[in-house]
Amino acid sequence: MNQTLINKYNIPGPRYTSYPTVPFWEESLFSTPQWESSVIKAFKESNSSEGISIYIHLPFCESLCTFCACHKRITKKHTVETPYLESVLKEWDLYLELFDGETPLIKELHLGGGTPTFFSPENLKTLLEGLFKKARIAEHPEFSFEGHPNNTTEAHLQTLYDLGFRRCSFGVQDYDPVVQKAINRIQPYENVERVTRLAREIGYTSVSHDLIFGLPHQTWEKMNETILKTMTLKPDRIAFYSYAHVPWIKGVGQRGFDENDLPSGEVKRELYENGKNLLEELGYIEVGMDHFSLEKDELYQSLKSGDIHRNFMGYSSSKTQLMIGLGMSAISDSWYAFAQNDKSVESYQQRVEEGKLPVVKGHILTQEDLLVRQHILNLMCRLETNWDQSTFLPELENAQERLFEMAQDGLVELGETGIKITEKGRAFTRNVAMTLDLRMLRNQPETRIFSMTI
Ligand SMILES: C[S@@+](CC[C@H](N)C(=O)[O-])C[C@H]1O[C@@H](n2cnc3c(N)ncnc32)[C@H](O)[C@@H]1O
Ligand code: SF4
Repeated sequence: MNQTLINKYNIPGPRYTSYPTVPFWEESLFSTPQWESSVIKAFKESNSSEGISIYIHLPFCESLCTFCACHKRITKKHTVETPYLESVLKEWDLYLELFDGETPLIKELHLGGGTPTFFSPENLKTLLEGLFKKARIAEHPEFSFEGHPNNTTEAHLQTLYDLGFRRCSFGVQDYDPVVQKAINRIQPYENVERVTRLAREIGYTSVSHDLIFGLPHQTWEKMNETILKTMTLKPDRIAFYSYAHVPWIKGVGQRGFDENDLPSGEVKRELYENGKNLLEELGYIEVGMDHFSLEKDELYQSLKSGDIHRNFMGYSSSKTQLMIGLGMSAISDSWYAFAQNDKSVESYQQRVEEGKLPVVKGHILTQEDLLVRQHILNLMCRLETNWDQSTFLPELENAQERLFEMAQDGLVELGETGIKITEKGRAFTRNVAMTLDLRMLRNQPETRIFSMTI
């Protein structure tokens, strides 16, 4: 990869799991009653046809990985499990009241964190049975969870399988001992091998591994080794994340290493480029941004069929209009509005105990937001977007002007009614999306709020 291009385009930028991105939500125009109305509208429009998605945030982890940018709470006390899960079920009850007697049809369910496998299998079973008691499950449900290889047990895998889960992902990050020490995450290959094998034996149809490039002390030799070790287990999907260095976010805990230990922008790009080439040689296909999938996996199949979608959970192989996020910090999406829950475990629980939705901020999408959102989603999922009269915005032509230089650099192709990202431009997808991000263009942040795009 050309160093000049990296220098030119390596700027802070969002990952676009939503549009507008969270820092550009207009909180002053948002209220919880408006959020509730948008949920009711989306539910009525879509529940019986496509169903709804649920994301449950399970925030606890036993020890802190110093690179981690997730919303988590570190504790070894497992007495936190039951009260937290009771709150999640109470929050679900508050949503059920909005559904006015119509039974929700659950199409997609994801347990994320933190570490869902911090919770005992029995407690997870109680949570999910409580959730399902007042719901119907879609014919081809997509249930998935994130497991930590160090604490996922056979009982976790079997219990969740029996409840309909067929996909799981495991945080691997990097196998190198020096990198693992720097990120405070000692995790032997044997643990990853054990959970991957058990998941397959039990019948999971998609096992995914998360790898990260750009971690402290990483070199291509180490990354190469990590990918080759990963290949001995041949996961169905690989999330190949760019390390998001966001030490300014309070409580992130990225202090276990020095800035000087991080690979330079050039080395980071080399890690991505070489990693991508190696994964492709080994039979993986890059899907959207950050993800690689075997051809048989649903993620690639959904890319081919055009059903692929992107939301706060990342990429998914089907779209639902309504996604309800339960738990501390969880984000919900009714297509017309976004809402985020309280980020503190205690006040999240307190609000729910008081019988209130624990939403603390959000955004109501304008007509313009809805159009921009669709175009950015198209770019993030299919690397191209096209417009006709109904999806045209005058700003799209201005975006093309902004993209002129990228077109000259061979990163995009500009048509009269469309924008297409080239193979060379794939690594710069976020940069292309940024040219359509009207909210950011109108309010350039004065301080760093996003990680670097490369
Ligand atoms: C909630 S964790 C996965 C489950 C479990 N807690 C674990 O660590 O195995 C989600 C994933 O987010 C990714 N992640 C967390 N912090 C990140 C960061 N700063 N940059 C890039 N990826 C990050 C990691 O790959 C991690 O596996
Ligand atoms: S990477 Fe996973 S286990 Fe580590 S702190 Fe983050 S959420 Fe917890």
